[in-house]
Amino acid sequence: MTLGVGVIGAGVMGGLHARLLSEEIAGARLVAVSDPDEGRAQAASYGGKIFQKGMALIHCDAVDALILASPDATHHELVMTALRLGKPVLCEKPLAATVMQCREIYEADSGQDLVSVGFMRRFDPCYREMKEALCHGAIGTPMLVRCAHRNRVAPSWFDGSMIISNAMVHEIDICRWLLGVEFTYVRLSSVGEAGDMILAELQTNLGIVISIEVFMNASYGYHVHTEIVGRDGTIAMAEPAVLRLRREGAASAAYSSDWIRRFAESYRAQDQAWVRAVLHNRRCSEIASARDGLFATSYALQIADLLTVGGGKLEIPI
Ligand SMILES: NC(=O)c1ccc[n+]([C@@H]2O[C@H](COP(=O)([O-])OP(=O)(O)OC[C@H]3O[C@@H](n4cnc5c(N)ncnc54)[C@H](O)[C@@H]3O)[C@@H](O)[C@H]2O)c1
Repeated sequence: MTLGVGVIGAGVMGGLHARLLSEEIAGARLVAVSDPDEGRAQAASYGGKIFQKGMALIHCDAVDALILASPDATHHELVMTALRLGKPVLCEKPLAATVMQCREIYEADSGQDLVSVGFMRRFDPCYREMKEALCHGAIGTPMLVRCAHRNRVAPSWFDGSMIISNAMVHEIDICRWLLGVEFTYVRLSSVGEAGDMILAELQTNLGIVISIEVFMNASYGYHVHTEIVGRDGTIAMAEPAVLRLRREGAASAAYSSDWIRRFAESYRAQDQAWVRAVLHNRRCSEIASARDGLFATSYALQIADLLTVGGGKLEIPI
C-alpha cells in the first residue's frame, strides 16, 4: 500500500515536502496540495490535485495523511480538523501559535497519537551522533550546552517574539531531546538595536546550564552550532561546510545559505520515518509528538513574555 499524502501550504517548506514526497520518499504518493496562491500550489503539485483551501484538502478522500506547512497561525484549526477525521498529520513547527491551542491539540490527540511535529533536527546525523555519544557516557555528566542559531536574513514575515517562538523553539526542542531536560529559569538579553539577536541562559531541572544565541540577520550564512561540555570532555559539531576552498595561501569553508540545505538530510529522514510509521499504523518515537510540541511552544512563549524584564522562572507545562 502507498500512503496518499496531501500538503497544506506550498511555500518554502511545503514545496520541499511536496518534492520529497514525489521524488524521494518510499511508500508515499503526493496526492494533493493546497495554497491560496494558485501559482505556488501548481508549482508544488507534481500532478496531484490542487485546492485553494486546506480544509477542502483535508476532506479529500484520496488524502490518507497530511503534512502541514502553512503559517503558524493556521496550524491549530487544520490539525484539529485532521484529528476529527482521524487523519495522521505531520505539522511543521511550531505546533500552534498559542499554548492554549497546543494544549487543545495535545488533549484531542491523546490516545490517538495522530499528531507529529516537524522538529527535524532530531534526524540530523550530527545531533544523532551527539545523542549517541552522550548515551555512551563519552563526556561524562553534561554540565553546560552552548547553542548558536544564526540565520542569514530574517524572513519578511518575522515579527518581534517570533525570534523565540519560531526560531529558538528549535533549540528548546533539541536540548530536551538530547538531554532529557526541562527548563526552570531563564536570564535574557536582547542585543543590539534591531532586536534581532537574543541571548538566553537557561537553568534546567538536571542542573545543566544551556546558553542559546539566536541571531536572525547574521549575514554570513545559515549556521547552527552546538557544543556540550561534560565532566570528562566536550563534544561539538564540526563545521558543516558545503564547500572548502584553498587559495592564495589561505583556506576557507562556505556555509549553507539557509536551513533547507543545512538540514536537507534531516527533512528527508524525518518524512521517510513518518510515512513508514503511518503505514504501519504506529507512532514513530523518534519524531516529536503533540506533547513535545506543547512543551516547546509553552517554554518559547514563556521566554518571550519574560524578555522585557530580563528573565524569570519557567513553569514545566504539565
Ligand atoms: N522545520 C523547519 O526547519 C522550518 C523552517 C521554516 C519554516 N518552518 C515552518 O513551516 C511553516 C511554513 O513556513 P514557510 O517558511 O514555508 O512559509 P512560506 O511563507 O514560504 O509558505 C507558507 C505558504 O502557506 C500559504 N498559506 C497561507 N495561508 C494558508 C492556508 N490557510 N492554507 C494553506 N496555505 C496557506 C501561503 O500562501 C504560503 O505559500 C511555518 O509554520 C514555519 O514556522 C519550519
